[in-house]
Amino acid sequence: MEDKDLIAKALEAAETAWAPYSGFRVGAAVLLEDGTVVCGNNQENRAYPLGSCAERVAVNYARAAYPTLKIKAIAIASPDSEVPVSPCGGCREVLLEAVRAQRGRDIRVIMADRTGMNVRVATVEELLPFAFEFK
Ligand code: THU
Repeated sequence: MEDKDLIAKALEAAETAWAPYSGFRVGAAVLLEDGTVVCGNNQENRAYPLGSCAERVAVNYARAAYPTLKIKAIAIASPDSEVPVSPCGGCREVLLEAVRAQRGRDIRVIMADRTGMNVRVATVEELLPFAFEFK
């Protein structure tokens, strides 16, 4: 699957986000190694800290429903953003946990704006250098 197709799925997923408090809808589309795509969107709560980012909804859903399949890529996009949507710090930690769970195989992170045309790409390792570790 090409980046633009995954971005289109992320933008589509954002349409059903629950974001009445921020008004900022985000969609995420996770591509698994067998070609399956799992989508998520942000789900806010009136007790604000309880809201979940789109990336976390999608990654946790993928890992819950398809625990044996590696994640190859995630596209993140918002119809409400004029710049590519970059995952927050907490989501970077969650993405890195997925990388560790698939024995270090990195995940392509595709960040897009509302048009899907302004795109940045990075790996999780690039997005979270010097991550917390314990041994
Ligand atoms: N949000 C995401 O879903 N993903 C991001 O990468 C950044 C922020 C959500 C959280 C909240 O519901 C809204 O966007 C505004 O911060």
